Amino acid sequence: MLELARRALVNAHAPYSRFRVGACVRGDSGRLYAGCNVENASYPVTQCAENTAVGAMVATGDRQIVEVVIVTESAEPCPPCGRCRQQLAEFAGPDMRIHLCGPEGVRVTATLGELLPMAFGPRTLTRPT
Ligand code: THU
Repeated sequence: MLELARRALVNAHAPYSRFRVGACVRGDSGRLYAGCNVENASYPVTQCAENTAVGAMVATGDRQIVEVVIVTESAEPCPPCGRCRQQLAEFAGPDMRIHLCGPEGVRVTATLGELLPMAFGPRTLTRPT
């Protein structure tokens, strides 16, 4: 997963921030999906690496994320942004592990529940009958 995330990072389109991010998610089928950040001259249009990877997963047919790797070249571990945490929560439970990596390997591992406690998720949307 780290190798796929690293390869995606190399392809990141990040000419504005120069902050390259690679991600890899593993679906419960065992398939791996990589993604990188895709920036835009209209800055808010930027897509995060996790978003790209989750989109590839959904397009292939997986709906459950088992594990995530995120890699950056920064000195500090890079936690996923709030929007990405919410997107991961759509397809994963609180025990799903997220590995924050540098080029050398894993720096921090956290669960989705630790990063996004009391998440608003698909189950929150159940309506009264
Ligand atoms: N970025 C990601 O790809 N994932 C995150 O979770 C945080 C931020 C990207 C977006 C932008 O291209 C760059 O990092 C700087 O914010």
